[in-house]
Amino acid sequence: DKGGWSSFMAKEVSEQPDAVANTLRGRIVDGVVVIPELAEFGDDALARIRRIVIIACGTAAYAGQVAKYAIEKWAKVPVDVELSHEFRYRDPVLENDTLVLSISQSGETMDTLMAVKYAREAGAVAISICNTQGATIPRESNAVIYTHAGPEVAVASTKAFVAQIAALYLFALHLARVRGTLSSAELLEQTAELQAIPEKIATTLLQGDAVRQLATWMTDSRAVLFLGRHVGFPIALEGALKLKELAYIHAEGFAAGELKHGPIALIEPGQPVFVVVPSPRGSAHLHPKVVSNIQEIRARGARVIVIAEQGDAAVLPFADTVIHIPLAAPLFEPLLAVVPLQLFAMELATAKGLDVDQPRNLAKSVTVE
Ligand code: F6R
Repeated sequence: DKGGWSSFMAKEVSEQPDAVANTLRGRIVDGVVVIPELAEFGDDALARIRRIVIIACGTAAYAGQVAKYAIEKWAKVPVDVELSHEFRYRDPVLENDTLVLSISQSGETMDTLMAVKYAREAGAVAISICNTQGATIPRESNAVIYTHAGPEVAVASTKAFVAQIAALYLFALHLARVRGTLSSAELLEQTAELQAIPEKIATTLLQGDAVRQLATWMTDSRAVLFLGRHVGFPIALEGALKLKELAYIHAEGFAAGELKHGPIALIEPGQPVFVVVPSPRGSAHLHPKVVSNIQEIRARGARVIVIAEQGDAAVLPFADTVIHIPLAAPLFEPLLAVVPLQLFAMELATAKGLDVDQPRNLAKSVTVE
């Protein structure tokens, strides 16, 4: 039931504040993250982990790429993010102090399932982040942290993605607590940031009309580029994926720092480029670098659409369009910046008369190789 929305995707995008709130529910007690599902390992076992390998496909892998920044920053454990289908055919080195963290909305993605089985056989501990109760991947894992985003019907993943990041951040904060890598004050502060996200996503959704207008102007685009840096990089990749799968437009995401190493050659007059800009307050060291990237592409005629924090005045002179997101600590910006990119892909596909719930050639759950 679409509940009055024009598509399941529109409904699910709008449900994102609740999806995150439901994932957090019951896992934060007196401002402290406690994940009961991890209790059986004992804090000592979690404290002994020397390395984390995240395995997933598609959008779920981008959630993993975002989480890498948070886990390394908070829990000080090295994290590798791998596509399940590359991981399982690569003879990866796994030891019994390696934790394999799988991420899957459906819990049935064949390559991720096989990667989990491979990891278990190699002696690693496997924890899954999953949205579907009782699915195969959680059954094959040592433990599961469910995202409680509710059923996701549209083929393109949206609310499951933000719920995955929320669950991964809960995991990271739990790990940081048992490993003693963040002070109590820091733990409380980051947890409060996480709790504020549902409301900030709701505020971000209010940009819907502006994004629809932009999308309507851009239906003839032949290629769209997305740039991001730090946690904005996987968001650029996710923005590009959404546009490919929904609107069938060639789209690429790049790390903004790579621009000079090749991608800037693509810039010609009129080329649309979305840029996810880090906060000038929270990321004072990165913000000017991204602004300078914007100047470089603008000088070559790019049509620049900027996703920037409310009040970021430095981007205004160089942007053709600015989409604002609420203030948040740097690691939390992806949960907000992704929303306009989801809306853009959905609105552009809609403007082209395409079925946003059932894009061509795609299945919701990829249970074959
Ligand atoms: C993109 C999308 C896919 C899935 C991927 C993994 O919008 O939906 O890229 O994210 O197929 O699926 P799950 O999470 O079910 O393992």
